[in-house]
Amino acid sequence: MEELQLYNKTYSKVLHIHSLGLALVLLVFCLPSPTSSCTEQEKDSLLRFLAELSQDSGLSASWRNVTDCCKWEGIACRQDRTVIDVLLPSKGLEGHISRSLGALTGLQHLYLSDNSLSGGLPLELLSSSSIAVIDVSFNQLSGTLHELPSSTPIRPLQVLNISSNLFAGQFPCATWKAMENLMALNFSGSIPQGVGDCSKLRVLRTGDNYLSGTLPDELFNAISLEYLSFANNDLHGVLDTANTVNLRNLTTLDLGGNRFSRKIPDYIGQLKRLEEFHLNNNNMSGELPSALSNCTNLMTIDLKSNGLSGELTNVNFSNLPNLKKLDLWSSKFTGTVPESMYSCSNLTALRLSRNNLHGQLSSRIGNLKHLSFLSLSNNKFTNITNALHILQSSKNLTALFIGHNFWGEILSQDETIDGFKNLQVLSMQGCELSGRIPVWISRAANLQMLILSDNHLTGPIPGWITSL
Ligand SMILES: *[C@@H]1O[C@H](CO)[C@@H](O)[C@H](O)[C@H]1NC(C)=O
Ligand SMILES: *[C@@H]1O[C@H](CO)[C@@H](O)[C@H](O)[C@H]1NC(C)=O
Ligand SMILES: *[C@@H]1O[C@H](CO)[C@@H](O)[C@H](O)[C@H]1NC(C)=O
Ligand SMILES: *[C@@H]1O[C@H](CO)[C@@H](O)[C@H](O)[C@H]1NC(C)=O
Ligand SMILES: *[C@@H]1O[C@H](CO)[C@@H](O)[C@H](O)[C@H]1NC(C)=O
Ligand SMILES: *[C@@H]1O[C@H](CO)[C@@H](O)[C@H](O)[C@H]1NC(C)=O
Ligand SMILES: *[C@@H]1O[C@H](CO)[C@@H](O)[C@H](O)[C@H]1NC(C)=O
Repeated sequence: MEELQLYNKTYSKVLHIHSLGLALVLLVFCLPSPTSSCTEQEKDSLLRFLAELSQDSGLSASWRNVTDCCKWEGIACRQDRTVIDVLLPSKGLEGHISRSLGALTGLQHLYLSDNSLSGGLPLELLSSSSIAVIDVSFNQLSGTLHELPSSTPIRPLQVLNISSNLFAGQFPCATWKAMENLMALNFSGSIPQGVGDCSKLRVLRTGDNYLSGTLPDELFNAISLEYLSFANNDLHGVLDTANTVNLRNLTTLDLGGNRFSRKIPDYIGQLKRLEEFHLNNNNMSGELPSALSNCTNLMTIDLKSNGLSGELTNVNFSNLPNLKKLDLWSSKFTGTVPESMYSCSNLTALRLSRNNLHGQLSSRIGNLKHLSFLSLSNNKFTNITNALHILQSSKNLTALFIGHNFWGEILSQDETIDGFKNLQVLSMQGCELSGRIPVWISRAANLQMLILSDNHLTGPIPGWITSL
């Protein structure tokens, strides 16, 4: 696409020139031009790259010295025949990445992902003054990432994807200082020392790796960080590092899928720009800090699958008007659903299942006009008649899980229940409910999954069930 745009740009320039003088255009196009093919030097750089492959998967059939290298498989050039793209993902290439690619002075995009390349990533590529994207993910590259001399001016590199390789060692911080946006890394070992010195780093995503150890204090010196994700690693420790408050620009904090323990600290309330907060699948315990109410920009809170306990009323949800997703699945929360939660009128997904919550549903749940997913199962809620009367007015509900509540109640046969028009999944299993399969279910015309198992329902399976 980008190539096409570049081509179009150049082409429209030519048209413009055309309007200025046909003669000039004729001159450009009719005379044999020295730039009708890529330069010998560029050809030579590419052929050196080819020569360092031990398996080129047939590339040499197209990469022949006698032809214009702009026409070679996987190569794209600008109109002036400068090589700008080397696009060779998933080609079955083996061998080393030649440093000669660094001599392509116009190269912008280098895509070599999903091959079997080994050896190191040449310094010449990282220090290139033209390359914007390097994607060498899913190879077997190894060694350490080289440190650029500290005198290196700001490089244009925007995307560096080295995930799923075998790199090890230190995180060469000086190298990244000059770089705009660190997109993807796949490391093992501990969180690299020096990362905190990256005062310009805005995005740090190192999810799905094998990082172990604790969060280093100096990480919190990376004051420009907006997006910090260490999700799905093997990190542990407590989150009591008060200097987290340095990260005032943080909008996403994702520490899900690790082994962090103890309380969610109060200082979380100082991250006022926070929009996404994930601490799911850890070993957190204690109560929710009321300071969470200060993060008024929160859109997602995912704390599922921890040992968190206490009452949800600790948090004043009225202060979180942007909240879209709240997931507290599989915790130890007690008490009732706080009234303040019903003022989160942007909620689309609410999961409170597998807790010890009790009480009846509040009619104010009807305020949640956008609510599409609601799971309350495995709690101690009561009065299913009341719940169904209230929820029928939640017009956008597509999935409703209320099973393992309403112990031993009678399933409402109330003919006036008429709603659930968009409901696709309805689960009321494991409630020991008695009564018949009620006719109001027949009006939920979009239902695709109805789960009524583990109850004491009696009577026939109604004929209308086939019309759903
Ligand atoms: C390609 O051709 C040029 C000119 O004929 C020659 O100088 C160069 O050595 C050749 N390169 C390779 C790798 O064969
Ligand atoms: C590598 O990471 C970049 C930036 O996150 C992403 O755009 C690209 O799709 C990734 N490459 C692969 C092969 O997944
Ligand atoms: C990181 O590398 C490991 C091992 O090579 C791999 O299993 C995992 O999928 C990689 N993660 C990503 C996000 O590529
Ligand atoms: C979970 O945290 C508790 C302290 O709150 C600790 O005793 C326990 O060892 C931790 N479990 C794991 C698996 O880390
Ligand atoms: C919760 O916040 C709202 C809005 O800021 C406020 O009006 C209300 O008094 C607060 N409730 C409590 C219990 O602090
Ligand atoms: C309800 O769902 C429909 C279809 O998904 C969507 O277009 C609409 O905006 C939703 N309404 C609200 C209030 O969220
Ligand atoms: C259950 O809800 C219904 C309908 O809202 C109400 O009339 C009834 O009194 C409630 N039952 C109990 C035990 O609170």
